[in-house]
Amino acid sequence: MGLDWGVGRYETTAEELSPVAAAVVERAAISSGDRVVDVGCGTGNAALLAAQRGAQTTGVDPAARLLEVARSRAAESGVTATFVQGDAASIPVATAGADVVLSIFAVIFAPDPGAAAAEMARVTAPGGRILLTAWIPEGAIQDCVGIFQKAVAAAIGRPAGPPPFAWHEQSALASLFAPHGFSVAVEPEELVITASSAREYLAIQGRDHPMSIAGRALLESRGEAEGVGGRALAVLEAANEDPTAFRVTSRYVVATATRA
Ligand SMILES: C[S@@+](CC[C@H](N)C(=O)[O-])C[C@H]1O[C@@H](n2cnc3c(N)ncnc32)[C@H](O)[C@@H]1O
Repeated sequence: MGLDWGVGRYETTAEELSPVAAAVVERAAISSGDRVVDVGCGTGNAALLAAQRGAQTTGVDPAARLLEVARSRAAESGVTATFVQGDAASIPVATAGADVVLSIFAVIFAPDPGAAAAEMARVTAPGGRILLTAWIPEGAIQDCVGIFQKAVAAAIGRPAGPPPFAWHEQSALASLFAPHGFSVAVEPEELVITASSAREYLAIQGRDHPMSIAGRALLESRGEAEGVGGRALAVLEAANEDPTAFRVTSRYVVATATRA
């Protein structure tokens, strides 16, 4: 079983990523009556925005606690949306049951990209579209993630595997979705991330982010947490765009797959 994103407080990251959900829902041109499925919905950022536009919305995620948070947010904001447990490779939605399938930094975590793409294609109705986002593997935040991931992999003695699927590359996505009759367009975008300092940003990530929490205990038990954290801090400080606080710009793509 993979990481449980319900551990920690993913809500912090959800807030940071909320401009992306807004941009993607806008780009998807979701309108009233559309059937929308948000794959890896987390706390419901995109699903709730789609529901606010009058779409019949279903959020799907493996993390039970995050689905509970999404349900509470829907109730608090008075919108109707359904949140169900599921996985990108097993979406609990009927074949051709969605006009729009969204996945904001979520299907990128699926262990089998081919199975996830096939499943997203299955639920997309003829004439429908899939919009997903993926980080471009560059920049300070991605470099920090890489530092932690390498340290954790070394700590557990996991040999370096093949490079991860290139969810940010048009050609990779085109190969993935072409067998299902989709063509893919990719647009680069940017997300600005801020905090009062690089040190505070790192501390918040360490405290709240499910991935950091999972790795930190291991690195602490080996006495490596401080050294790894120091390397990550140096990367963030070198990339800081704001001399009075902390600001970095992370680049990502919005990929749109439409039935050819
Ligand atoms: C970075 S969060 C993004 C959440 C949400 N889309 C947002 O914009 O805030 C990644 C999400 O992907 C979910 N996830 C991880 N593996 C998944 C999989 N195989 N299929 C579907 N969702 C998955 C996690 O549970 C988590 O909610």
